[in-house]
Amino acid sequence: MQTKSKVLVTGGMGYIGSHTCVELIGKGYDVYIIDNLSNSHPEVLDSIHRITGITPFFANIDLNNKSAVNEFLRIHSIDAIIHFAAYKSVGESVAKPLSYYRNNLVSLINLLELCDEHKIKHFVFSSSCAVYGNPDYLPVDEFAPVKPAQSPYANTKKIGEDILLDTSKVKDLNVISLRYFNPVGAHASAMIGEYPIGPPLNLFPVITQTAIGKRDKMVVFGDDYDTTDGSCVRDYIHVVDVALAHVVAIDRMLSGKIKDKYSLFNLGTGNGLSVLEVLIAFEKITGVKVNYQITDRRPGDVVKVYADTSYANKELGWKTVHTMEDMITSAWAWEQVLQTKTMTV
Ligand code: WQD
Repeated sequence: MQTKSKVLVTGGMGYIGSHTCVELIGKGYDVYIIDNLSNSHPEVLDSIHRITGITPFFANIDLNNKSAVNEFLRIHSIDAIIHFAAYKSVGESVAKPLSYYRNNLVSLINLLELCDEHKIKHFVFSSSCAVYGNPDYLPVDEFAPVKPAQSPYANTKKIGEDILLDTSKVKDLNVISLRYFNPVGAHASAMIGEYPIGPPLNLFPVITQTAIGKRDKMVVFGDDYDTTDGSCVRDYIHVVDVALAHVVAIDRMLSGKIKDKYSLFNLGTGNGLSVLEVLIAFEKITGVKVNYQITDRRPGDVVKVYADTSYANKELGWKTVHTMEDMITSAWAWEQVLQTKTMTV
């Protein structure tokens, strides 16, 4: 019986992390989670078990505590790391730049130094389409110029990619950076989904919270942009498609199929939808009206961004399988589950 490869998922109790743990377990990997629960809930571990029948090993460790991470890696011989753990609010990063630079970059540097010490040779990094800023051309591909970051959050992703590229050149380390567009939706079981500590600021949970009555109304940040209906355009991708891309990346690294020591891929659908188009689709699919008001633009918002997916399709051998209807119905089902959770608290 071949021993299972051990994959460490940092931030594995979070939104994309937990969905990735589910798919890794489904693919037969032995999953370990490090998470400091700064933006996630301990009950997610039980939810992963309820979906997969397996409870991943979980350690409540802050990646800024290098000695604790070192002890963890000394005990568990990890074959690959998927690094999600980071602060991720664009707006909050503008207000607290130093906490974002310290948390997101020191934790990455700690991990990479320990990869060297513990001979961990495979590293998947959670990056973002935010590095493209307002792209020069659309759909945006991986060869597009990386623009000056619109926020400290985006800058930590840009600098993180540079740190990984430079490290992979001199260390025995293979790296894949995955640039997410806008992950949305939830697992079909409605047992896991976007579940941040505190009120979410991104579009989908704001829509579902307004639809369920948690919010009286929502605001649309501007309808005077140079787009079909004046509202911003994004490439919304189902979180399970994002999770599956991580499994493909790990599969290829551990089976020696990755050609370059450093590679990066867009994780998007290739379709751009405006905020107002998402609202129309939501009301059409769920039959639930969303009360919204158009307000001023949000500083730092990119006008229009959506992915050229051909490189990821060809080189990574991955493509999305979920539709906008899947994204909306799963997000709505999850919001209704959250409603029962808050009612039972
Ligand atoms: C989407 C659109 C808003 C809320 C995200 C993540 C970030 C990174 C990049 C992964 C924008 C509009 C939103 C609201 C609105 N992801 N909006 N009213 O800004 O694209 O950033 O993708 O690394 O972490 O946050 O996503 O959902 O905040 O905004 O009108 O109440 O929805 O103006 O046009 P964004 P978002």
